Amino acid sequence: MNRAHNFGAGPGSVPDEVLEQVQKELLDYKGTGKSIMEMSHRGKEFTQVIEEAKADLIKLLAIPDEYDVLFLQGGASALFGGIPMNLCNEQTDTVDFIVTGTWSKTACADSKYFCSPNKVVDMESQKFLTVIPPEQWKFSESPTYVHYCDNETVHGIEMPTDVYKHFPKSALVVCDMSSNFLSRPVDVSKFDLIFAGAQKNAGISGITIVIIKKSLLSKTKPSVPTVFNFLKKSQSNSLDNTPPTFNIYVSGLIFKWILKNGGVEGMEKLRVEKSSKLYDFIDQSNGFYKCFIDKDYRSKMNACFRILDGNQELEDKFAKQALEQKITDIKGHRSVGGLRVSLYNAIKVESVDVLISFMEKFMKENSK
Ligand SMILES: Cc1ncc(COP(=O)(O)O)c(C=O)c1O
Repeated sequence: MNRAHNFGAGPGSVPDEVLEQVQKELLDYKGTGKSIMEMSHRGKEFTQVIEEAKADLIKLLAIPDEYDVLFLQGGASALFGGIPMNLCNEQTDTVDFIVTGTWSKTACADSKYFCSPNKVVDMESQKFLTVIPPEQWKFSESPTYVHYCDNETVHGIEMPTDVYKHFPKSALVVCDMSSNFLSRPVDVSKFDLIFAGAQKNAGISGITIVIIKKSLLSKTKPSVPTVFNFLKKSQSNSLDNTPPTFNIYVSGLIFKWILKNGGVEGMEKLRVEKSSKLYDFIDQSNGFYKCFIDKDYRSKMNACFRILDGNQELEDKFAKQALEQKITDIKGHRSVGGLRVSLYNAIKVESVDVLISFMEKFMKENSK
């Protein structure tokens, strides 16, 4: 099979087995003579698809009964406005943002139409290479919620799993897990709202998964438009309007694939193995490759690094030659440059081995 070692940051790699199953069922879903894409979202087959996807996700993350799972549209970005729209009463409500990279910065900027954002931490002045100690974070007096991004995809910064323990006890905890969702176990009970665009570890672009504490649903004002309205989404099982049915079907298959491969604990083991191999190699390259991210915050999903402190010519050559080996999508985000290797769940350990062998050869050929 002509499959690339696709280290893209998103839409990212999808497991081969899932794509094969999609292919098998594409023209005739379970003997219906129709594709899942051609069926009513209220019909028997799709009802089973969405119910199973929900049940499997609940199993994967051991989501307690007090939470609901929603499948929304508009990408994770839609929720940057959608969350304050639902959780804040007044424009004057304060929301605390922990700004550690592009995505928390964007969420903070977008929220201002519905609340008064406060930056508890803003790491931009340090180029988003580290995070200052929690003791120095400046929370406001009574924030409605604290928003943070668990894994900053562009900058390669990942938070510790229990970072919420530093937040004010009275504030709700809202977390953007778009790029490390389902890659490690999470204690859902410590969160009030978790959201994730599916296109990294949990599906393809087009849906955003929301896990929300049911007690919060009553906070939504009737004036919130239906497509953004968490209460109406929950009451209709995300079916008040036509959902992206194919995307929910693919996510459902991915949830089953994760369950079959050791659950989120299995994914955690894999990400530790893959990221350790890569970072160890980078750290032992005598400065040929360099990761500038603070070691305590290095992402196990998106490894960002440079060649010879940012030699653009060599980095371009690296990406070009990598492509010849079917190693693809390793250029850093256009806003930061450099190189970025995304190690999402579907990336095999063998692909990381192929990448490291290539990196070793490239280093030998291009060292002075
Ligand atoms: C952490 C994070 N949050 C939010 C987004 C925005 O997601 P979307 O493009 O689905 O709106 C992304 C996209 O890559 C992301 O990585």
